Amino acid sequence: MASTSIVSVFILTLFSFNFGIEASTNILPAKHTIHIHNGLPDNSPILKAHCASKGDDFGNHTLDAGQSFSWDFQTNIAESTLYFCRFWWILKTKAFDVFRAGWDADEYFHTYTYSVRTDGFYLGHEETPTEMSKVNTW
Ligand SMILES: *[C@@H]1O[C@H](CO)[C@@H](O)[C@H](O)[C@H]1NC(C)=O
Repeated sequence: MASTSIVSVFILTLFSFNFGIEASTNILPAKHTIHIHNGLPDNSPILKAHCASKGDDFGNHTLDAGQSFSWDFQTNIAESTLYFCRFWWILKTKAFDVFRAGWDADEYFHTYTYSVRTDGFYLGHEETPTEMSKVNTW
């Protein structure tokens, strides 16, 4: 009898331990920040950006050169978070996904900074990135 309850306590402990591991990887939400930065030349016509997800719509933002706007959100593995933006500049327009939940499965980044430039869209993973790579053209 005594040994049975010791075994049960042991099994119970194992269960809570496993649950603890799961909780830290799958249940705790992860915070992300997206920055949309107008990296066009100073005298350039205004940039317009409309970003949204299923649950959030940030409306139309107009950005002067050097200006940005940002938002935060939390995601976890069970969610299918997706944010997309449409941009307008002079006669050009472009729309693409700026965050999808699956993107952080391989490599986790808290920060997605997009810089809009004359030749396209650049992404870096710091608030003021030292390194950015081109992810889209106009
Ligand atoms: C946002 O701007 C676009 C492009 O100018 C326009 O077509 C759209 O109607 C605007 N949306 C709102 C909600 O103002």
